[in-house]
Amino acid sequence: MSSLNIVILAAGKGKRMHSDKPKVLHALAGRPLLQHVLETATQLAPGKNTCVVYGHGGEAVPQAMARYGASFVLQEPQLGTGHAVQQTLPHLHDGGMTLVLYGDVPLIQRATLEKMLTQPQALTLLTLNLDNPSGYGRIVRDAANNVSCIVEEKDATAGQRTIQEVNTGILAVPTHLLRSWVGKLTDNNAQGEYYLTDIVAMAVAQGVAVQAVQPAQAWEVMGINSKVQLAELERIWQQEQAQQLLMQGVTLADPARLDVRGKLVCGRDVEIDVGCIFEGEVTLGDNVRVGAYSVIRDARIGAATHIEPYTHINQADIGEHCHIGPYARLRPGSKLHNEVHIGNFVEVKNSEIAHGSKANHLSYIGDSSVGSRVNIGAGTITCNYDGANKHRTVIEDDVFIGSNTQLVAPVKVGRGATIGAGSTITKDAPEKELTLSRAKQMTVPGWQRPVKKVTGEK
Ligand code: UD1
Ligand code: MG
Repeated sequence: MSSLNIVILAAGKGKRMHSDKPKVLHALAGRPLLQHVLETATQLAPGKNTCVVYGHGGEAVPQAMARYGASFVLQEPQLGTGHAVQQTLPHLHDGGMTLVLYGDVPLIQRATLEKMLTQPQALTLLTLNLDNPSGYGRIVRDAANNVSCIVEEKDATAGQRTIQEVNTGILAVPTHLLRSWVGKLTDNNAQGEYYLTDIVAMAVAQGVAVQAVQPAQAWEVMGINSKVQLAELERIWQQEQAQQLLMQGVTLADPARLDVRGKLVCGRDVEIDVGCIFEGEVTLGDNVRVGAYSVIRDARIGAATHIEPYTHINQADIGEHCHIGPYARLRPGSKLHNEVHIGNFVEVKNSEIAHGSKANHLSYIGDSSVGSRVNIGAGTITCNYDGANKHRTVIEDDVFIGSNTQLVAPVKVGRGATIGAGSTITKDAPEKELTLSRAKQMTVPGWQRPVKKVTGEK
C-alpha cells in the first residue's frame, strides 16, 4: 500500500474521567489507551505516516508516546473532529489513503483496519448496529440502501434518531479527497463544531463511492469516556483473552479471575489458578502450573516448572522442572537453571543459580553466582551492599551453606565447601573444607535463674 497516513484523534478533554491525567494516558490492560492504538497502527503497512492530534495535558501525551515515531499536533482550541483533522493536513503524505482512528478507542483490531483499506478509491466508514444507538452519529441511507450522510444525534430528526446503524468515527479515505473536503467544513450545526462526518455528504455529492464495513466484534469500537466505561472494557478484554487461552488448551481455574496485561504465551497443558496477573511478555512452557495470586511480569518459565501461590516474578528467566514458592520473589536479572528450588520468603535478584540448587526458606540471594547442587540453608543472606556499592557473591558447585549464614560480599565459597550454621563469612572459604565463624559454645555449670523478689506489698 502506498503512503498510508494514520491520524489518531486524541485531543478530547475526557472531563468525565475526573482526572488530571489526559484521558488517552489512562491504562487498559496495563497500557495507555493511546498506546494500544499506536501498537495496532504499527502493525499496518510499512512506511506509514502516523500523526496524533492531542490537546489537554500539555506535553504529557507526546512525551509518553515518543517511541512510536509518530508526529504530534496540538489542537487548541478543540473545535470538533473535522477541525482536529484539519490540523494534521500539513503532515499528511499524498498519493494514498488516510485512516482516522480515535485515541480513546483502544481495542480496534488490525484485521478490521485492513478490511477498511481494501478500497483505495472509496470513503470507507466503520459502522455498527446498536439496539440503543443514542449518543452516536447515525448512518443515513437512501432508498437504494446506499449511505447518503451521517447525522449527529443533536442534529437528527426524531425519525433519524430511530436509525440503529451508528458511526464509530473510524474511517478510511483517499488523502487528496480528505484534503479538499476538510477545507470546506463549516460549524453550522447544533454543537457549533467542525464535524468530520460532514465529508460523507460531500463524497456522495461528488459521486465518490461510500462503503460501510463492520468490525468483527463490537468491543473493538467501544470508546472510553469514564472510569465506568474503562472498567467495563477492561473486563471485556480480560474475558476475551481468557477465552483465547482456553481455546488454546490452557486450564484456567476461573476465566473471570485472570488478568493479562500484555502478552501471555502458553505451551501445552498449562494450568493457572485464580487471581494471577501476567504483565509484559510472559512465556510459560509445557506443563507449567501457576499457583493462586501470583504476579508474573516479563518472564520465561520453562516446562514442568511449578509456581506455588503468592509468588512474584519480575524479569526472570526460569528453567525446567523448577519449584518456586509459595511466597517467593524473583527480581530482575534472576536466572534459574533446571530443577532449582526456591521456597517461601526467598528473594533472588540479579543472580544466576545453576542446575539442581535449592534455597527453600527465608533467604536473600542478590548479585550472586550459585553453582549446581548447592544447598542454601534457611535464613542465609548475601550481604551484597556496603552502603555505597554492590558486590558479588560466588558460591561454587556442591556447596552446603548452613542456616543463618551471612555471606559478606565480595566473597567466594569454593567448590564442595561446607559453611557451618550461624556463620558470618567475610573471607573466601576454601574448597571442600568446613568453614565457620561462630562464638564457641559454653556452659556455666550450676547457674541459677533469677527469682522474683517477695516484698510483702499487695
Ligand atoms: C463522534 C462522531 C460521531 C460518532 C462518535 C463515535 C463527529 C462529528 N461525530 O462523536 O458520529 O458516532 O464520534 O464515538 O465526528 N476529538 C479531537 N478534537 C476535537 C473533538 C474530538 O481530537 O475537537 C477526538 C476525541 O478525543 C475523540 C474523538 O475525536 O477521540 C471523538 O470525539 P468525541 O467528542 O468523543 O466524539 P463525538 O463528537 O461524540
Ligand atoms: Mg464531541
